[in-house]
Amino acid sequence: MLIEELDKLKIETLKEIEYVQYDSRKDLAEIKVKIFGKNGALTVLSKGMKDVDPQERPRVGALINDVRKSIEEKFSDKENEFKARELNEKLENEKVDITEPSKGQKKGAIHPISDVIDKMIDICVKMGFSVVEGPEVESDYYNFEAMNIPKNHPSRDMQDTFFINENILLRSQTSAVQAREMEMRKPPFKIICPGKTYRNDSDSTHSPIFHQLEGLVIDENVSMADLKSMLTILMKRLFGEDTSIRFRPSFFPFTEPSIEVDVSCPTCHGKGCGLCKGTGMLELLGAGIVNPKVLEMAGIDSKKYRGFAFGFGLDRTAMILNSIGNIKYLYKNDIRFLEQMK
Ligand code: DAH
Repeated sequence: MLIEELDKLKIETLKEIEYVQYDSRKDLAEIKVKIFGKNGALTVLSKGMKDVDPQERPRVGALINDVRKSIEEKFSDKENEFKARELNEKLENEKVDITEPSKGQKKGAIHPISDVIDKMIDICVKMGFSVVEGPEVESDYYNFEAMNIPKNHPSRDMQDTFFINENILLRSQTSAVQAREMEMRKPPFKIICPGKTYRNDSDSTHSPIFHQLEGLVIDENVSMADLKSMLTILMKRLFGEDTSIRFRPSFFPFTEPSIEVDVSCPTCHGKGCGLCKGTGMLELLGAGIVNPKVLEMAGIDSKKYRGFAFGFGLDRTAMILNSIGNIKYLYKNDIRFLEQMK
Protein backbone atom coordinates (compact mmCIF):
# COMPACT_ATOMS: atom_id res chain seq x y z
CA MET A 1 0.00 0.00 0.00
CA LEU A 2 2.57 2.54 1.18
CA ILE A 3 4.85 1.74 -1.74
CA GLU A 4 2.08 2.30 -4.24
CA GLU A 5 1.05 5.55 -2.58
CA LEU A 6 4.65 6.77 -2.66
CA ASP A 7 4.98 5.95 -6.37
CA LYS A 8 1.71 7.72 -7.07
CA LEU A 9 2.74 10.79 -5.06
CA LYS A 10 6.03 11.00 -6.94
CA ILE A 11 4.47 10.80 -10.41
CA GLU A 12 1.67 13.26 -9.61
CA THR A 13 3.87 15.78 -7.89
CA LEU A 14 6.48 15.80 -10.66
CA LYS A 15 3.69 16.44 -13.14
CA GLU A 16 2.15 19.15 -11.01
CA ILE A 17 5.49 20.95 -10.74
CA GLU A 18 6.09 20.59 -14.47
CA TYR A 19 2.76 22.26 -15.25
CA VAL A 20 3.44 25.38 -13.18
CA GLN A 21 3.66 28.35 -15.55
CA TYR A 22 6.03 31.33 -15.24
CA ASP A 23 3.13 33.72 -14.61
CA SER A 24 1.85 31.66 -11.68
CA ARG A 25 5.30 30.80 -10.28
CA LYS A 26 4.15 31.61 -6.80
CA ASP A 27 2.26 28.27 -6.85
CA LEU A 28 5.59 26.47 -6.40
CA ALA A 29 5.80 27.56 -2.79
CA GLU A 30 2.29 26.27 -2.13
CA ILE A 31 3.07 22.89 -3.67
CA LYS A 32 6.20 22.68 -1.54
CA VAL A 33 4.13 23.11 1.62
CA LYS A 34 1.58 20.59 0.36
CA ILE A 35 4.34 17.95 0.00
CA PHE A 36 7.00 18.75 2.60
CA GLY A 37 5.02 20.82 5.15
CA LYS A 38 4.13 19.65 8.64
CA ASN A 39 0.96 18.02 7.33
CA GLY A 40 2.36 17.63 3.79
CA ALA A 41 1.69 14.44 1.81
CA LEU A 42 5.24 13.09 1.99
CA THR A 43 5.52 13.93 5.69
CA VAL A 44 2.31 12.02 6.41
CA LEU A 45 3.37 9.01 4.31
CA SER A 46 6.78 8.92 6.01
CA LYS A 47 5.04 8.61 9.35
CA GLY A 48 3.53 5.35 8.06
CA MET A 49 7.02 3.75 8.33
CA LYS A 50 6.33 2.70 11.89
CA ASP A 51 3.61 0.28 10.71
CA VAL A 52 5.81 -1.32 8.01
CA ASP A 53 7.08 -4.85 8.47
CA PRO A 54 10.67 -4.54 9.83
CA GLN A 55 12.05 -6.63 6.92
CA GLU A 56 10.47 -4.28 4.43
CA ARG A 57 11.67 -1.12 6.16
CA PRO A 58 15.02 -0.67 4.31
CA ARG A 59 13.29 -0.90 0.92
CA VAL A 60 10.49 1.47 1.90
CA GLY A 61 12.99 3.84 3.53
CA ALA A 62 15.07 3.94 0.34
CA LEU A 63 11.93 4.61 -1.71
CA ILE A 64 10.90 7.53 0.56
CA ASN A 65 14.36 9.04 0.11
CA ASP A 66 14.20 8.56 -3.64
CA VAL A 67 10.78 10.23 -3.86
CA ARG A 68 11.97 13.15 -1.72
CA LYS A 69 15.12 13.60 -3.82
CA SER A 70 13.31 13.47 -7.16
CA ILE A 71 10.72 16.00 -6.05
CA GLU A 72 13.37 18.32 -4.59
CA GLU A 73 15.38 18.17 -7.81
CA LYS A 74 12.33 18.94 -9.86
CA PHE A 75 11.58 21.95 -7.67
CA SER A 76 15.09 23.27 -7.99
CA ASP A 77 15.14 22.77 -11.81
CA LYS A 78 11.90 24.67 -12.14
CA GLU A 79 13.02 27.45 -9.80
CA ASN A 80 16.28 27.88 -11.70
CA GLU A 81 14.39 28.06 -14.96
CA PHE A 82 12.15 30.85 -13.58
CA LYS A 83 15.06 32.74 -12.05
CA ALA A 84 16.93 32.78 -15.35
CA ARG A 85 13.83 34.10 -17.07
CA GLU A 86 13.34 36.80 -14.41
CA LEU A 87 16.93 37.94 -14.84
CA ASN A 88 16.56 38.10 -18.61
CA GLU A 89 13.43 40.17 -18.29
CA LYS A 90 15.14 42.56 -15.89
CA LEU A 91 18.14 43.00 -18.20
CA GLU A 92 15.82 43.56 -21.11
CA ASN A 93 13.92 46.29 -19.22
CA GLU A 94 17.04 48.05 -18.01
CA LYS A 95 18.61 48.28 -21.40
CA VAL A 96 19.87 51.81 -22.07
CA ASP A 97 19.18 53.25 -25.44
CA ILE A 98 22.42 55.10 -26.14
CA THR A 99 21.01 56.66 -29.28
CA GLU A 100 18.28 58.54 -27.33
CA PRO A 101 18.91 62.34 -27.23
CA SER A 102 20.24 63.68 -23.88
CA LYS A 103 17.91 65.48 -21.47
CA GLY A 104 20.61 68.12 -20.84
CA GLN A 105 22.18 69.05 -17.53
CA LYS A 106 20.81 71.55 -15.00
CA LYS A 107 23.58 73.63 -13.49
CA GLY A 108 23.18 75.29 -10.10
CA ALA A 109 24.80 78.52 -8.95
CA ILE A 110 26.72 79.46 -5.82
CA HIS A 111 24.64 81.61 -3.46
CA PRO A 112 25.89 85.24 -3.48
CA ILE A 113 26.76 85.10 0.26
CA SER A 114 28.72 81.85 -0.07
CA ASP A 115 30.44 83.40 -3.06
CA VAL A 116 31.50 86.48 -1.06
CA ILE A 117 32.70 84.28 1.83
CA ASP A 118 34.77 82.18 -0.61
CA LYS A 119 36.29 85.29 -2.21
CA MET A 120 37.11 86.91 1.15
CA ILE A 121 38.67 83.74 2.52
CA ASP A 122 40.73 83.38 -0.63
CA ILE A 123 42.05 86.97 -0.41
CA CYS A 124 42.70 86.85 3.35
CA VAL A 125 44.38 83.43 3.39
CA LYS A 126 46.81 84.73 0.74
CA MET A 127 47.59 87.59 3.17
CA GLY A 128 48.44 85.06 5.89
CA PHE A 129 45.18 84.91 7.86
CA SER A 130 43.87 81.68 9.41
CA VAL A 131 40.14 80.98 9.19
CA VAL A 132 38.34 80.26 12.49
CA GLU A 133 34.76 79.66 13.59
CA GLY A 134 32.84 80.47 16.75
CA PRO A 135 29.47 79.50 18.21
CA GLU A 136 26.31 81.25 16.99
CA VAL A 137 24.70 80.67 20.39
CA GLU A 138 27.11 82.72 22.45
CA SER A 139 27.57 83.93 26.00
CA ASP A 140 26.92 87.50 27.04
CA TYR A 141 30.54 87.56 28.17
CA TYR A 142 32.16 86.94 24.76
CA ASN A 143 29.59 88.84 22.72
CA PHE A 144 29.62 91.96 24.92
CA GLU A 145 31.56 92.09 28.18
CA ALA A 146 34.90 90.90 26.79
CA MET A 147 34.41 93.41 23.97
CA ASN A 148 34.32 96.24 26.50
CA ILE A 149 30.52 96.49 26.45
CA PRO A 150 29.52 96.01 30.13
CA LYS A 151 26.07 94.88 31.28
CA ASN A 152 23.52 97.73 31.21
CA HIS A 153 25.91 99.98 29.27
CA PRO A 154 24.24 102.32 26.72
CA SER A 155 26.52 101.04 23.94
CA ARG A 156 24.45 97.82 24.00
CA ASP A 157 21.63 99.80 22.40
CA MET A 158 23.58 99.76 19.11
CA GLN A 159 22.65 96.09 18.71
CA ASP A 160 19.09 94.88 19.30
CA THR A 161 20.00 91.40 20.52
CA PHE A 162 18.06 88.14 20.76
CA PHE A 163 18.63 86.93 24.32
CA ILE A 164 17.96 83.28 25.19
CA ASN A 165 18.39 83.97 28.89
CA GLU A 166 20.27 86.56 30.91
CA ASN A 167 23.67 85.15 29.95
CA ILE A 168 23.08 83.37 26.63
CA LEU A 169 22.23 85.03 23.32
CA LEU A 170 22.39 84.66 19.54
CA ARG A 171 25.65 86.41 18.72
CA SER A 172 24.98 89.90 17.43
CA GLN A 173 28.49 90.30 16.01
CA THR A 174 31.32 88.00 14.92
CA SER A 175 33.50 90.20 17.16
CA ALA A 176 32.53 87.61 19.79
CA VAL A 177 35.27 85.34 18.44
CA GLN A 178 37.97 87.92 19.20
CA ALA A 179 38.27 87.27 22.94
CA ARG A 180 37.86 83.51 22.43
CA GLU A 181 40.84 83.48 20.04
CA MET A 182 42.93 85.88 22.15
CA GLU A 183 42.47 83.64 25.20
CA MET A 184 43.45 80.56 23.21
CA ARG A 185 46.36 81.78 21.06
CA LYS A 186 49.80 83.16 21.70
CA PRO A 187 50.57 86.35 19.74
CA PRO A 188 51.46 87.10 17.03
CA PHE A 189 48.47 85.83 15.05
CA LYS A 190 46.09 86.82 12.24
CA ILE A 191 42.59 85.37 12.07
CA ILE A 192 39.35 85.90 10.18
CA CYS A 193 35.97 84.51 11.18
CA PRO A 194 33.08 84.50 8.69
CA GLY A 195 29.67 83.49 10.00
CA LYS A 196 26.04 84.13 10.82
CA THR A 197 24.95 86.88 13.19
CA TYR A 198 21.53 87.87 14.53
CA ARG A 199 19.75 91.10 15.41
CA ASN A 200 16.15 92.20 15.79
CA ASP A 201 16.25 94.33 12.62
CA SER A 202 14.22 93.98 9.46
CA ASP A 203 13.93 96.31 6.46
CA SER A 204 15.24 96.47 2.90
CA THR A 205 18.87 96.49 4.08
CA HIS A 206 18.56 94.58 7.38
CA SER A 207 17.59 90.99 8.08
CA PRO A 208 17.28 89.32 11.52
CA ILE A 209 19.83 86.78 10.31
CA PHE A 210 22.82 88.19 8.46
CA HIS A 211 26.51 87.52 7.93
CA GLN A 212 29.71 89.17 9.06
CA LEU A 213 33.39 88.58 8.63
CA GLU A 214 35.60 89.48 11.55
CA GLY A 215 39.33 90.07 11.22
CA LEU A 216 41.89 90.36 14.02
CA VAL A 217 45.64 90.88 13.92
CA ILE A 218 47.72 90.88 17.11
CA ASP A 219 51.42 91.65 16.93
CA GLU A 220 54.07 93.84 18.52
CA ASN A 221 54.13 96.89 16.27
CA VAL A 222 50.88 97.12 14.39
CA SER A 223 49.45 100.52 13.64
CA MET A 224 46.57 102.30 11.97
CA ALA A 225 48.79 102.57 8.86
CA ASP A 226 48.98 98.75 8.69
CA LEU A 227 45.20 98.49 9.06
CA LYS A 228 44.56 101.05 6.34
CA SER A 229 46.96 99.52 3.85
CA MET A 230 45.69 95.99 4.50
CA LEU A 231 42.06 97.06 4.04
CA THR A 232 42.93 99.00 0.88
CA ILE A 233 44.50 95.91 -0.67
CA LEU A 234 41.57 93.74 0.44
CA MET A 235 38.95 96.12 -1.03
CA LYS A 236 40.78 96.51 -4.32
CA ARG A 237 41.11 92.76 -4.71
CA LEU A 238 37.41 92.33 -3.95
CA PHE A 239 35.87 95.23 -5.90
CA GLY A 240 38.55 95.95 -8.50
CA GLU A 241 41.77 97.97 -8.72
CA ASP A 242 39.98 101.22 -9.66
CA THR A 243 37.96 101.25 -6.39
CA SER A 244 38.51 104.29 -4.18
CA ILE A 245 38.39 103.91 -0.42
CA ARG A 246 37.42 106.41 2.27
CA PHE A 247 38.22 106.17 5.97
CA ARG A 248 36.02 108.05 8.45
CA PRO A 249 36.48 108.41 12.21
CA SER A 250 33.90 106.45 14.19
CA PHE A 251 33.26 104.80 17.55
CA PHE A 252 33.24 101.18 18.72
CA PRO A 253 33.71 100.21 22.38
CA PHE A 254 36.31 97.57 21.45
CA THR A 255 38.56 99.75 19.29
CA GLU A 256 40.35 103.04 19.97
CA PRO A 257 40.66 104.84 17.65
CA SER A 258 37.84 103.49 15.48
CA ILE A 259 37.07 104.04 11.82
CA GLU A 260 34.39 103.24 9.29
CA VAL A 261 35.32 102.39 5.74
CA ASP A 262 33.47 103.27 2.53
CA VAL A 263 34.17 102.13 -1.03
CA SER A 264 33.24 103.79 -4.30
CA CYS A 265 30.04 102.31 -5.71
CA PRO A 266 31.02 99.65 -8.27
CA THR A 267 27.69 100.05 -10.09
CA CYS A 268 28.11 103.77 -10.98
CA HIS A 269 31.86 104.10 -10.26
CA GLY A 270 31.29 106.97 -7.83
CA LYS A 271 28.94 109.00 -10.05
CA GLY A 272 25.86 108.35 -7.89
CA CYS A 273 23.04 105.85 -8.52
CA GLY A 274 20.09 104.14 -6.79
CA LEU A 275 22.28 101.58 -5.04
CA CYS A 276 24.49 104.24 -3.35
CA LYS A 277 21.54 106.65 -2.95
CA GLY A 278 23.29 109.17 -5.17
CA THR A 279 26.36 109.49 -2.93
CA GLY A 280 28.79 107.48 -5.07
CA MET A 281 30.12 105.78 -1.92
CA LEU A 282 28.99 102.74 0.09
CA GLU A 283 29.60 102.15 3.78
CA LEU A 284 31.05 98.70 4.23
CA LEU A 285 32.79 98.00 7.49
CA GLY A 286 33.95 99.07 10.90
CA ALA A 287 37.54 98.74 12.11
CA GLY A 288 40.12 100.14 14.48
CA ILE A 289 43.00 99.59 16.84
CA VAL A 290 42.02 97.03 19.48
CA ASN A 291 41.22 98.77 22.76
CA PRO A 292 43.97 97.86 25.31
CA LYS A 293 41.20 96.98 27.79
CA VAL A 294 40.02 94.20 25.42
CA LEU A 295 43.58 92.82 25.21
CA GLU A 296 44.04 92.87 28.99
CA MET A 297 40.68 91.16 29.67
CA ALA A 298 41.74 88.30 27.36
CA GLY A 299 45.12 87.98 29.10
CA ILE A 300 47.32 89.67 26.47
CA ASP A 301 50.00 92.11 27.68
CA SER A 302 48.88 95.44 26.19
CA LYS A 303 52.28 97.04 26.86
CA LYS A 304 53.95 94.51 24.56
CA TYR A 305 51.21 93.79 21.99
CA ARG A 306 48.83 95.86 19.91
CA GLY A 307 46.19 94.79 17.46
CA PHE A 308 43.82 95.90 14.77
CA ALA A 309 40.41 94.51 13.98
CA PHE A 310 37.75 94.87 11.32
CA GLY A 311 34.19 93.66 10.81
CA PHE A 312 32.57 93.38 7.38
CA GLY A 313 28.87 93.07 6.63
CA LEU A 314 28.85 90.21 4.13
CA ASP A 315 25.23 90.59 3.01
CA ARG A 316 25.93 94.20 2.15
CA THR A 317 29.08 93.17 0.30
CA ALA A 318 27.11 90.55 -1.67
CA MET A 319 24.43 93.13 -2.49
CA ILE A 320 27.01 95.64 -3.69
CA LEU A 321 28.91 93.08 -5.79
CA ASN A 322 25.73 91.84 -7.49
CA SER A 323 23.70 95.11 -7.55
CA ILE A 324 20.96 93.58 -5.37
CA GLY A 325 18.53 96.24 -4.10
CA ASN A 326 16.85 94.36 -1.22
CA ILE A 327 18.53 92.10 1.35
CA LYS A 328 15.41 89.86 1.50
CA TYR A 329 16.26 88.43 -1.94
CA LEU A 330 19.24 86.74 -0.31
CA TYR A 331 16.97 84.74 2.00
CA LYS A 332 13.90 83.97 -0.12
CA ASN A 333 15.55 81.14 -2.05
CA ASP A 334 13.55 82.17 -5.11
CA ILE A 335 14.98 80.01 -7.86
CA ARG A 336 14.49 82.81 -10.44
CA PHE A 337 16.75 85.06 -8.36
CA LEU A 338 19.38 82.38 -7.86
CA GLU A 339 19.31 81.56 -11.61
CA GLN A 340 20.55 85.10 -12.28
CA MET A 341 23.63 84.50 -10.12
CA LYS A 342 25.10 81.97 -12.58
N1 DAH B 1 31.18 94.35 15.46
C1 DAH B 1 30.89 95.58 14.76
C2 DAH B 1 29.44 95.60 14.38
O1 DAH B 1 28.83 94.57 14.28
C3 DAH B 1 31.76 95.72 13.56
C4 DAH B 1 33.20 95.95 13.92
C5 DAH B 1 33.67 97.26 14.08
C6 DAH B 1 34.03 94.89 14.08
C7 DAH B 1 34.97 97.49 14.41
C8 DAH B 1 35.38 95.13 14.44
C9 DAH B 1 35.82 96.44 14.59
O2 DAH B 1 36.24 94.14 14.64
O3 DAH B 1 37.11 96.66 14.92
O4 DAH B 1 28.89 96.65 14.17
